[in-house]
Amino acid sequence: MQAVEPGGVSPYRFLLVAARLGSVRRRSQDVDMIKAQRVEAADSALIDPAGSEWRSAPSTRLSLEPTPLISQPSAYVQAKWETIDYGAIGNVSVQALHNDGGIFFRLQWNDATENDDIRDTDQFTDAAAVLFPVKEDAPLTSMGSPDEPVNAWYWRPDMETPFSVTSEGTSTTIRTIDPNLRGNGAHTGGAWAVVIGRALQSAGDGYVQLTAGEEGKVAFAVWQGGNDERAGLKAVTLEWQPLELEA
Ligand code: HEM
Repeated sequence: MQAVEPGGVSPYRFLLVAARLGSVRRRSQDVDMIKAQRVEAADSALIDPAGSEWRSAPSTRLSLEPTPLISQPSAYVQAKWETIDYGAIGNVSVQALHNDGGIFFRLQWNDATENDDIRDTDQFTDAAAVLFPVKEDAPLTSMGSPDEPVNAWYWRPDMETPFSVTSEGTSTTIRTIDPNLRGNGAHTGGAWAVVIGRALQSAGDGYVQLTAGEEGKVAFAVWQGGNDERAGLKAVTLEWQPLELEA
């Protein structure tokens, strides 16, 4: 590796970041409308990834990209992951249904390894999340900003219920418990199928509020625990996807 230039960015590292950014830029046009169809079904039916309602729900396949290394808040993480590939999951299929009271997202992705619990400090689980801007134009790639927070519903197989994560920029994430948030996942045939659902309205600081008949934005993230992915190291949709809740 060549000597580090004044200002600390080695030409090798510059090339790596540029290459990653290049591929990100090439795919950043992938924006699909996610339509949450309105159904007459109970929460208990919709929270089941194998539930019959999901068989006829429209599905959208979204490509995922690694989060840019440059956006990781710590220099340690940037240096450590400079030559390690992360964001291993390339795409996720998304379905969305609502029953006027709650909205449910079913995410499905291929992952040959089922990492569903942590037995040591250097182990990480598979995980998935759905992200919303709390205010219309909140930035996605910095996970919000002080004036424009974002809210994520963060599912892990080793947690009874998902966390509702609020964020006003990377390294400001706060995990909270939202009693209206539920998750349910199963790993079969080399793939995860996970439903994350919440009441359309839920009281809490920094929580997104959704309304039937209205439009919003949504993004998705998947962590490959078998690849030591956690926190900012994951595969994401780099663009907000328009979200429509059928009236
Ligand atoms: C380019 C886009 C993104 C970047 C650079 C990014 C970066 C980060 C970073 C650095 C952290 C750690 C923050 C901390 O320590 O406070 C983090 C945490 C988190 N991010 Fe992102 N993120 C991005 C997109 C997303 C998306 C699209 C989602 C959800 C769909 C998401 C969900 C989360 C969650 C749930 C956490 C907290 C994890 C935990 O508590 O362990 N992020 N992100």
